[in-house]
Formats: sequence, C-alpha cells, structure tokens
Amino acid sequence: MAKNILEGKRGIVFGALDEHSIAWKVAEMAKEEGAKFTLTNAPIAMRMGKINDLAASCNAEIIPADATSMEDLENLISKSVEILGGPLDFILHSIGMSPNVRKQRPYTDLNYDYFQKTLDVSALSLHKVMQTAFKLDAINDWGSVVALTYIAGQRTFPDYSDMAEAKATLESIARSFGYHYGNKRNVRVNTISQSPTATTAGTGVKGFGDFISFADKMSPLGNASAEDCASYCIAMFSDYTRYVTMQNLYHDGGFSMMGVSGDALK
Ligand SMILES: NC(=O)c1ccc[n+]([C@@H]2O[C@H](COP(=O)([O-])OP(=O)(O)OC[C@H]3O[C@@H](n4cnc5c(N)ncnc54)[C@H](O)[C@@H]3O)[C@@H](O)[C@H]2O)c1
Repeated sequence: MAKNILEGKRGIVFGALDEHSIAWKVAEMAKEEGAKFTLTNAPIAMRMGKINDLAASCNAEIIPADATSMEDLENLISKSVEILGGPLDFILHSIGMSPNVRKQRPYTDLNYDYFQKTLDVSALSLHKVMQTAFKLDAINDWGSVVALTYIAGQRTFPDYSDMAEAKATLESIARSFGYHYGNKRNVRVNTISQSPTATTAGTGVKGFGDFISFADKMSPLGNASAEDCASYCIAMFSDYTRYVTMQNLYHDGGFSMMGVSGDALK
C-alpha cells in the first residue's frame, strides 16, 4: 500500500515506547513511505529497551531526550539534522504523562507539583520542541509538526483528570506556534485528536476498559486504531496537506460530533 509519499523527507519521532505506542506505528509507516528519521524518548523509557528493535527495523538512530529539558532538546534537534543530512520536514510529538493520573489522585485532590509536571511533560514540551527548532532554524519550508491530543481538551471526561488541562494547553500551543512558524517558514502545526487506544498511556486512565467500549459504541465508524492514526499522521507530514495548519483534527470515527447513539443507549 506504501506510495513513498514521504520520500526524501527527514524527521524526528518522539514517544515510541513499545509496539502498542501510536508513535511506534507512525515510525513503521514513515519508514515504509520513504522517510529518514531519528527516534527519541525519555532516558528512563530507554530502559525497557524495546525501542532498539524499532530502530533496527527502521534503520534509525536513537537519541534519548527528556522532552522537558531544553538542553536535551537542543542536542536532539541539532544531532538529528547532522545525522539525517539536513533540516527536518516533520516532527511527531506523541508524549503524555500525568503523575496525578498514575497515582490515582482524585481531580478534587490534585497534587500541584504533579500537576505542573503533567503540564510540563504533556503540553509545554511541544512549545519547547518548537522553540528549539525555531531558534536553530531546523525545520524546512512547508515542514509539518503534529502532536497527539484527546477530546478531553474540550469536553469533560472526569477520569482524564489534569491531562484535560494539559491537552487544552497543547492544542492552544499548536495554534499559537502555528501562526509564528507559518509566518517564518510556512511550517504547519496541528494536533490530531485520537480515539481512546489501548497503549501504556491510554490504559493508565481509570476505567479505560469500559470507556473504550463506550466510545466505540458512540462512534458511527467505531474507534480509530493506532495504525489508522499513524496513517493520518503520515498524510499530515506529506505534501498532500500543505495548507492545513493550526487545526485540532478529530480522528475518532465521528465520536466528537455525536450526542447519543442507539448502540450506546443499549
Ligand atoms: N492512548 C490513547 O487512548 C490516546 C488517545 C488520544 C491521544 N493520545 C495521546 O497520544 C500520545 C501517545 O500516547 P500513546 O497512547 O501512544 O501511549 P505511550 O505510553 O505508548 O506513549 C507516551 C509516550 O510519552 C513518553 N514520555 C513520557 N514522558 C516523557 C518525557 N519527559 N520526555 C519524552 N517522552 C516522554 C513515554 O515514554 C511514551 O513513549 C500522547 O500524547 C497521548 O496523550 C492517546
């Protein structure tokens, strides 16, 4: 099915933890579509070692970086440009983590140090990545930055906790930076709002099992898979979507437009 639509393009893929990760599927598909890229994740995530398998199959180098550290990001971006042989054409931001969710703190009893960590890792990191790339002038004209988000940025999903605030901030950063990077280099910046998906980050949310099946019943097309999300990311990195920017793009089988569905009512 591959059509080489990323032939000659260079990029960075953040967030491939294991074979369930959305970023993992994006990396595999980017490779099939002819792209060259580096892989990155937090140094602590490297301990699982799985990313080495992905790197081998994609012929990609791994550059560890904590996405909250400006120093790590400068090193990552400048090394990627060097290794790949020129400025970047795409970046995937596929990063999310809330200590409050992990430790099951109720929304009405949040730990604010954790809350700041949630915002830093899951939202400000997108600004840090783009600010670093902007200053290093590391993205080519008509490049594309995609970050993954969830509809809890607009509507209330109680168990998503402070990740809802992080997603709202992430989407706002995409719009605001989309303006500045669009003016500078015609770089487009978008968020893709994905269906609930069974990954490490996804299943960490309380009640995920019931919720994923509810979302499936609410969506006329059913939940979108990680593979289909990867296809959408690839389309957004390609030259077929050059004038799409500053958008929050739903990839959810129709969930976001539903009020009620027969299946969910049953
Ligand atoms: N799974 C879902 O239901 C779902 C739905 C909508 C959106 N998303 C979003 O998709 C993105 C990817 O998540 P996923 O579902 O593939 O889960 P995942 O757990 O496989 O990926 C999350 C990644 O974030 C990385 N990460 C955490 N802290 C980091 C840091 N400080 N620096 C660098 N990387 C760090 C993790 O190591 C991991 O690779 C996230 O933004 C998530 O919120 C997921």
